[in-house]
Amino acid sequence: MNEDLTPSPVIDTTTPSVARAYDYLLGGKDNYEVDRQVVEMLRTVAPEASLTGRMNRAFGKRAVRYIAEQGIRQFIDLGSGIPTTPPSVHDTVHSVDPTAHVVYVDVDPMVVVHSQALRSIGPGLTTILADIRQPETVLDHPHLQAHIDFNEPVGVVIFSVLDVIEDKDNPLGIVQQLRERMAPGSYLGISHLSARSAPEAMAHTHKISQETGFPEVAFRPDEEVLKFFEGFDLVKPGLVDVREWHPEQDIPQVKIKLVGAVGRKAG
Ligand SMILES: C[S@@+](CC[C@H](N)C(=O)[O-])C[C@H]1O[C@@H](n2cnc3c(N)ncnc32)[C@H](O)[C@@H]1O
Repeated sequence: MNEDLTPSPVIDTTTPSVARAYDYLLGGKDNYEVDRQVVEMLRTVAPEASLTGRMNRAFGKRAVRYIAEQGIRQFIDLGSGIPTTPPSVHDTVHSVDPTAHVVYVDVDPMVVVHSQALRSIGPGLTTILADIRQPETVLDHPHLQAHIDFNEPVGVVIFSVLDVIEDKDNPLGIVQQLRERMAPGSYLGISHLSARSAPEAMAHTHKISQETGFPEVAFRPDEEVLKFFEGFDLVKPGLVDVREWHPEQDIPQVKIKLVGAVGRKAG
């Protein structure tokens, strides 16, 4: 790919941002009118869309805690998002082991500003402004290299991010490059917008993208999401609706669905 994917450190308030729209969806304040407009359009077909976002966050927490409880002490959170609703990944990891390290990676400068502010609260986390469509710039980043030893198992989590990576940018190839660096015994956690969602909601997101300039989102079928885990053994119950992965409480059905899974690299 020859396109320059170096993220701009400047916050653009005229184009909707995935991170800021997600912040608004979750009840945060780090967003602008362009971002709120996207979410309000979404709510016209899926009024419970914020619940979908909260379910994704809750899945992420359970998945990260599970991985940390398997003894993993180094994490990479790709497309980490604005830390709108606690716990963030590092909170969950540090509740299991305060000495573990988490590297946050995001393409959005707003995320980086907020995540870097968290560093003043405690050690054990690093934030990188980078685009995962160039996985080698992430994996070889000196700040990541300073904290992640790829000879040891690592937890890599990619929650609700691959759905904004278009097929033309080869999301499978991106995840494959990540998987190749991960030592045996590493864990991969993914959540992804699902083709199980209501057809009218999926069609509406396409309309939103065309009208607002928000990135196109991909509602991929289970068989495509499963390909991200090639060479990894899925932890039970496998790839499921995120509400059903190690559930702690009953959560209602929603129109916009995400599936999620955790896999372990064999060996
Ligand atoms: C829907 S949010 C999810 C945030 C968080 N992972 C969570 O589940 O709460 C998607 C995040 O991925 C980031 N993102 C989107 N495309 C990206 C890319 N190419 N490289 C890095 N981050 C990206 C966005 O900026 C945003 O913060």
